[in-house]
Amino acid sequence: MTEFVGRLRLGVNIDHVATLRNARGGSYPDPVRAARLAEEAGADGITAHLREDRRHIIDSDIDRLMEQLRVPLNFEMAATPEMQKIALRHKPHAVCIVPEKREERTTEGGLEVAREENKLAGFIAPLREAGCRVSIFIGADERQIAAAERIGAQVIELHTGAYCDAHAEGRFEERDSELAMLREMSAYAHSLGLEVHAGHGLAYDTVAPVAAFPEVVELNIGHFLIGESVFRGLGPAIAEMRRLMDAARV
Ligand code: PXP
Repeated sequence: MTEFVGRLRLGVNIDHVATLRNARGGSYPDPVRAARLAEEAGADGITAHLREDRRHIIDSDIDRLMEQLRVPLNFEMAATPEMQKIALRHKPHAVCIVPEKREERTTEGGLEVAREENKLAGFIAPLREAGCRVSIFIGADERQIAAAERIGAQVIELHTGAYCDAHAEGRFEERDSELAMLREMSAYAHSLGLEVHAGHGLAYDTVAPVAAFPEVVELNIGHFLIGESVFRGLGPAIAEMRRLMDAARV
């Protein structure tokens, strides 16, 4: 007998609409317009990462998203005083704390929580008090997950990048072991009472196995969807992802 494990939420990350805009300066294409379109196409939330160097999303994008979105904003940010101040001013539905290095092309790994427990606990406390759901972006690592729970995070987002890279590069044994670890750690995090999200690098050919984990309640997907929208338009690109996620849930 098949079991339906509940609808999975899709958070659409619009950072790379801003990357395209910033390649030429000016205001086109507008990531907020993309966010509104994503809402119409069935996104359950919008994710945006305000990086320290403002390479894609800029402060005024966050202002406009907060004014105009009907679905919740998941505000991604590094654990810095500047970002904390911005988050406390806006009080978005969710704040996802990510590691950030200036020289990286994208968020390469999960946050080191275990070594920074006291600092991070102090950092997220005011965000929680302001009513934000605090999520920590981490690798599928038991130590980090346990530490995330101890510091008071309500949510963890598991980094699926290594699984997706192994798939894209044909390293299938590694892909399968990454997937097995993601599955095991989703169950572990859930057993600690944490809400489990996942994301990074997901595409049509990698989403289903992760969407099938019963403990995962939200996927955050950006780069692939924005790329695919060049070929089929943002709405249809999102609709196809939604279809694959729903099919994997049954
Ligand atoms: N989740 C988090 C925490 C991220 O940092 C990112 C990338 O900004 C994503 C999800 C989306 O990753 P991608 O753009 O590769 O789909």
